[in-house]
Amino acid sequence: MQITVLSGSPKGDDSVTLQYVRYMEKTFPDHDYNIFHVARQIRKLERDDKGLHDIMDKIALSDAVIWCFPLYYCLVCSQYKRFIELIFKRQKGEAFRNKYAVSLSTSVHFFDHTAHNYIHGICDDLEMRYLGGYSAEMYDLVRSRERARFVQFAGNFLKSVKKQVPSARQFPPVVSSEFVYEPGPILQTITAGDKKVLVLVDEEKENGNLGKMIKAFWDNFIHGIEVISLASIDIKGGCLGCCQCGLDNVCQYQGKDGYIDFYNEKVKTADIIVFAGEIRDRYLSSRWKQYFDRSFFNTHTPTLKDKQLAFLISGPLAQLPNLQEILSAYAQFQLANLAGIVTDEGEDSFRLDELLGDLAGRIIDLASQGYVQPNDFLGVGGMKIFRDEVWGKLRVVFQSDHRYYMQHGCYDFPQKDFKTRRMNFFMMLMTKIPAFKKKFLKMIEKEMVKPLKSVVANK
Ligand SMILES: Cc1cc2nc3c(=O)[nH]c(=O)nc-3n(C[C@H](O)[C@H](O)[C@H](O)COP(=O)(O)O)c2cc1C
Repeated sequence: MQITVLSGSPKGDDSVTLQYVRYMEKTFPDHDYNIFHVARQIRKLERDDKGLHDIMDKIALSDAVIWCFPLYYCLVCSQYKRFIELIFKRQKGEAFRNKYAVSLSTSVHFFDHTAHNYIHGICDDLEMRYLGGYSAEMYDLVRSRERARFVQFAGNFLKSVKKQVPSARQFPPVVSSEFVYEPGPILQTITAGDKKVLVLVDEEKENGNLGKMIKAFWDNFIHGIEVISLASIDIKGGCLGCCQCGLDNVCQYQGKDGYIDFYNEKVKTADIIVFAGEIRDRYLSSRWKQYFDRSFFNTHTPTLKDKQLAFLISGPLAQLPNLQEILSAYAQFQLANLAGIVTDEGEDSFRLDELLGDLAGRIIDLASQGYVQPNDFLGVGGMKIFRDEVWGKLRVVFQSDHRYYMQHGCYDFPQKDFKTRRMNFFMMLMTKIPAFKKKFLKMIEKEMVKPLKSVVANK
């Protein structure tokens, strides 16, 4: 069979993820594997339509496609995202139609599911026959049990393609609206006081809804606020995944472009950051993705702690729960407060004026209070993954994270809670005594709520 591999790592042949494909190639040598480093070669593919055309020709002749990529900020890297944009922009989707597909990633399992959901959605949009995803931890391949599991996955995939099994679409098509926002007169009533508000925008559509939304948001402030277009920042390229930043947050691009100074001087010093963008396929633009990926020079430390974040989005966000989860995860990982998301989906200009005005007022109010919503499963679970990784295998490379985690009490392993450990030990012994166990079972409900009742009683 002919298998096309779309390799999504900026590292090309040195990609960790690609080693899984190489292993598959050796395990199942009766097939042809055509590997294209589409993320690494994105510049060339952008410039040269022939390069893209050649890849499409190979896909058209293939029996199946492997989307092979590392996780970058809950998704694929910006270069791979750009490749996906090019497929739609240059109308190359036909080559993918009815081809079988799987997604294969490596990561530390931090929001790997959102990246696979994204690729699955793209496969559905391209009318491919998606057969599932495989999310490996970076070093699974060196473990014999995990190798065996991967071989089973790859074998089942090849078997399914050979058998021409049926497959069903999971993600409905994303439907955009033609609604044109006409902002009404807006009274400038809000003063930001000592709070620095920064609006970051990437806008493709000229005179589109997003620009008007930003203007209407801006109009609420008596003294105006700063708006910066991502296009105006000197960004030479996407994150290269080299991890040189891990030791002391010095990026390979340092001194070579303007991103790092911009992030340090503008983003880190703002109290309130509003991210404004348009939906492009099932995410924002690849330029937005580049912005997020490049912020990786801060590695696994939150740099927006206690800030207010908001999103202004033009496009069908309500149809993209996966993207909603990514936005929420971003704010939670940053230990920031997601003050609100306003979109133009309501198709009602007056209501949109109101929502933007409300967000402008609320975001200043919340910043003055210093309110930050508690993290839910996304933030709490995600942080535990980073804690364990930085404590363990990743520490040598990510030494600056280790320093930060030590200083900020991020190593909150339960093993350190000696009081609870002593109590557990004693109580577990006691519950071996039948008479105590009987009494204990009756006590559980009351004892669980006791500390809370005492706080309420003392109010
Ligand atoms: C900019 C950047 C962002 C990353 N984001 C994530 C992430 O969101 N979730 C995760 O589990 N791993 C993340 N990682 C880790 C990579 O996915 C992981 O190291 C992967 O194995 C690299 O594969 P590659 O060598 O094929 O590029 C990130 C790495 C980089 C450099």
